Amino acid sequence: MSVVRSIISGCGSYLPERIVTNEELAERVDTSDEWIVGRTGIRQRHIAADDELTSDLAIRASQEALAAAGVEGAEIDVIVLATSTPDQTMPATAAKVQAAIGMDDGFAFDVQAVCSGFIFALAVADNFIRAGQAERALVIGAETFSRIMDWEDRSTCVLFGDGAGAVILEAGSGDGTPADRGILTSHLHSDGRHHDILCTDGGVSSTRTAGFLRMRGREVFRHAVTNLSSVITEALEATGLTAEDIDWIVPHQANKRILDGTAKKFGISPDKVIITIDKHANTSAASVPLALKSALDDGRIKRGDLVLMEAMGAGLTWGAALVRW
Ligand code: UT7
Repeated sequence: MSVVRSIISGCGSYLPERIVTNEELAERVDTSDEWIVGRTGIRQRHIAADDELTSDLAIRASQEALAAAGVEGAEIDVIVLATSTPDQTMPATAAKVQAAIGMDDGFAFDVQAVCSGFIFALAVADNFIRAGQAERALVIGAETFSRIMDWEDRSTCVLFGDGAGAVILEAGSGDGTPADRGILTSHLHSDGRHHDILCTDGGVSSTRTAGFLRMRGREVFRHAVTNLSSVITEALEATGLTAEDIDWIVPHQANKRILDGTAKKFGISPDKVIITIDKHANTSAASVPLALKSALDDGRIKRGDLVLMEAMGAGLTWGAALVRW
């Protein structure tokens, strides 16, 4: 039976030039390189310049993804941009990307699922393609979390950074088996009962400001371990694949201990987990495509590989996608 599959034909990423090391943060708040590396695996983060907006990061990553796919902006039917740090309250940051890449037709919008945003955006775009409503999609995760940091709160300001990543999806066909190239399955979840364990302390409708990020870290950590395990199991069961079939895990980069723990639970070698958190910290919706890009650039991910992407974030939201490269 012939089925439509969304094939990832190009990937791009962008990190702002300015790097802030753990040592530099230790001069501002009561922390240390030893604590940050030991508890999270983070060594540095990139911070956007004052005049550099989420859309600027998104446009740079998108241009690179388009070039990698050999596709013009005008050939894109839909842009789905995941962010929690949009340039403006309205319109969607995706609209600015649409204009910048010369896409005069089709449609563009933002989704907000915080750190799971890229997986949510990927699933939304995949559904448009499989429903026949789009042939080509640009999926972006872009954030400037530095703008919602309380730089005096050591429990959060050391954890996050700015960045963007993007992929091009193109309609292809398969025979409906796990050997097909493209997105094999995606699974999304949320549980709003925990909306207050990771959130901002403001918002347009409540305080008329964006607010600062607040997190009950230990609680989020516990949920992450449980929810990621269950959604990975769900994705494997949906395809009849097993953890042994996975060539690479491309996880949301929130904490190296979560990444190591998840791989261990499934008996997957740590060598198969793409880790970039040391270089750019937690970039929320940008972290999965940033990690993906690094593993494509250094040749680890190759045609035919089975790639598991997963993420968990505020909402709570979590999700996973299995992709045959
Ligand atoms: O991306 C969305 C999803 N986010 C996550 O998945 C994040 C999940 N949570 C985590 O990754 C971890 O909970 C954190 C990295 C946020 C914190 O690590 P932890 O091992 O859970 O530490 P903790 O919050 O239990 O704090 C331990 C101690 C506390 O001191 P006391 O009470 O034991 O004296 C904190 O005050 O570490 C202290 N602490 C720090 N010390 C030095 C907290 N932040 C810092 C810091 N430097 N930056």
